[in-house]
Amino acid sequence: MESLLASRDTPPWNALTSPAAVHPALFVHRVDGLEPGLYLLVRNSAALPDLKRAMRPEWLWQRTGPDHLPLYFLLPFDLRAVAKLISCHQDIAADSCFALGMLANFEIAMKQPWRYRHLFWECGMLGQALYLEAEAIEVRATGIGCFFDDEMHAMLGIKDHAWQSLYHFTVGGAMVDQRLSTSAPYEIQP
Ligand SMILES: Cc1cc2nc3c(=O)[nH]c(=O)nc-3n(C[C@H](O)[C@H](O)[C@H](O)COP(=O)(O)O)c2cc1C
Repeated sequence: MESLLASRDTPPWNALTSPAAVHPALFVHRVDGLEPGLYLLVRNSAALPDLKRAMRPEWLWQRTGPDHLPLYFLLPFDLRAVAKLISCHQDIAADSCFALGMLANFEIAMKQPWRYRHLFWECGMLGQALYLEAEAIEVRATGIGCFFDDEMHAMLGIKDHAWQSLYHFTVGGAMVDQRLSTSAPYEIQP
């Protein structure tokens, strides 16, 4: 989770020209030390009041984990079925340790359309960090580009376009798909 925190001085985050505008909403299923449920990693503390206003009033907003981690526990619940449904019914969102949706401050893109792409760049960086960190601890990650954003917003209680989920991800133990074969990178075909 720490690897997702934006720092102005360290790569890749120092490649971004604006403060962090994307906040992962996590469906935690099987993580030691965390109760299953919905969490939000608020990567820019200035966004906290807006996020609170935009979402369901009943969320707990209970700060959890180490002090330096801006992680908020919103709802204790088994969200496996919800995560699967939101991810176009893909099992990988439910059978993992956790899945997440990247909630972007979309007012930025509505006011300054040329910054639309920056939100996706930030999501891509978060995705790459998740891929690398998952491999480093010997689990795996998968980007989920197929998801129902309206369902995600309805679940969170978001009613307008100010916050939009732009990219989803799932992290967990891998099952090798025997139908696929893998070649070495840059393999030369005979
Ligand atoms: C933007 C993006 C969206 C993806 N969406 C999905 C998805 O919805 N479901 C899925 O199973 N895998 C998804 N993947 C993962 C790919 O299917 C694939 O596992 C990954 O790109 C690695 O495979 P490769 O080495 O053949 O590129 C996505 C990957 C990316 C980069």
